[in-house]
Amino acid sequence: MSEPGSAAAPVAPPATLVIFGAMGDLARRLLVPSIFNLARDGPIPDDFAILGVSYHDVGDEDLRASVEAFIPDEERGGKAWQSLRERIAYHKGDFTEAGTYESLAKRVDANALFYLATAPQFFGTIVDALSRAKMLDEEKGFRRVLIEKPFGNDLESARALNRQILACIPETQIYRVDHFLGKETVQNIMVARFGNHLFEAIWNNRYIDHVQITAAETVAVDSRGKFYDATGALRDMVPNHLFQLLSMVAMEPPNSFDAEAIRNEKAKVLSAVRGPRANEVKADAVRGRYRTGKAGGKKVPDFRNEADVAADSRTETYAALKVGIDSWRWVGVPFYLRTGKALSARDTEIVLQFKPVAFALFRDTDVDKLPPNRLVLQIQPHEGISLKFLAKKPGPVVDTAEVSMDFSYADTFDLGHRTGYETLLYDALTGDQTLFQRADMIEAGWAAVQPVLDAWGKDGEPEDYDAGSEGPKGAAALLERDGRHWNTLS
Ligand code: BG6
Repeated sequence: MSEPGSAAAPVAPPATLVIFGAMGDLARRLLVPSIFNLARDGPIPDDFAILGVSYHDVGDEDLRASVEAFIPDEERGGKAWQSLRERIAYHKGDFTEAGTYESLAKRVDANALFYLATAPQFFGTIVDALSRAKMLDEEKGFRRVLIEKPFGNDLESARALNRQILACIPETQIYRVDHFLGKETVQNIMVARFGNHLFEAIWNNRYIDHVQITAAETVAVDSRGKFYDATGALRDMVPNHLFQLLSMVAMEPPNSFDAEAIRNEKAKVLSAVRGPRANEVKADAVRGRYRTGKAGGKKVPDFRNEADVAADSRTETYAALKVGIDSWRWVGVPFYLRTGKALSARDTEIVLQFKPVAFALFRDTDVDKLPPNRLVLQIQPHEGISLKFLAKKPGPVVDTAEVSMDFSYADTFDLGHRTGYETLLYDALTGDQTLFQRADMIEAGWAAVQPVLDAWGKDGEPEDYDAGSEGPKGAAALLERDGRHWNTLS
């Protein structure tokens, strides 16, 4: 998890990045530009190569031109891009045919990362085929497999996929990607918590009233109707991204920055998450579906009228859950999670709300209520940390106002132009698994939401909300029943 591009980042070993699904969006928009950023900034060696695999009938030059579209204009003529461009090659092949791997094996002879940027139904097939072609043996160099989400679509399928992959390679060669862990602000949670006495000392159920974790988006499903209608907000965001944020906030301090030490603590907290049981789903889980409105400056149709979405779809585009964590640190502290599309603002944040202080001191003053302290970890946009606390308004009488101490990433550090995949790729190259999901973490995430998936799959409909709003009324009611309210999306 060291910082690529910083003085401390040693140059990664030479390797070939084999991208399955090379003509797809992920490869072109994010993976190749990230490798370029790393190559330009230093921590990737000159003999690093990219080999794109897909069924498209194209050649090296087509792939190069197609990825170049996502390299900033001002960089294209530069030495760094021109040099990397030369080292991009294409391998045409069907993922399901043994011949693809026989010919591929001849082109990969030392260290290799295999990035599965494909549709999920190919994950098991590709790993099996790589294994059969002996491409995962580590005799001539390391062989690592990176797998994007979705990793399964429920607990059973995730377990089956883990079994299938682990039958071919050990956990040490598997890098399950959750791109939220590539975000600087997410990685910073650990430093903020464990590098500052100030925070960690009060990070428990004695002082914290509840935690809110939000991933709100203004975008609707747009061209992803087919995927999204089959997936829904809960599967798409909660057991993976939101639970990763939760584990960063709720884990116990690891003994070191060693990958296994950190992953053990995260796995421990994930297995202690207590999601709504079957009989609690009605009260503790809310699903919503956007109807027409305006979000992110765009007119949005009803979800059911989106391209490739069934007219009688019961898929949710918004999900909110109340979960608990069965641990000494967190017993009694609810964690409220929400995520949705076509909402009023793009806002990914974690809010830790502290318990109220005793009012006695203020009883005979003009102060009628004391807003609780809140620590807001803003993941995106406007990455930073804010502490909301109470101050005295100037004047002869005692009156108070909520004020904020703000740390902004962009104002403090040079963030540069990053895709969010640089650290993940650099870590995979240097063999650091800290930011990658282990089999038990994936399964714990699915296990916690499985009763909700089962209940929602059986019957009922999501509650409508207007595109451009803060979500369905039921989500507000979920917190109001506990005498709380959501932080406003902004
Ligand atoms: C993806 C989901 O994993 O994460 C998308 O499939 C979602 O539906 C995206 O939009 C959000 O990621 P980010 O980095 O844009 O917040």
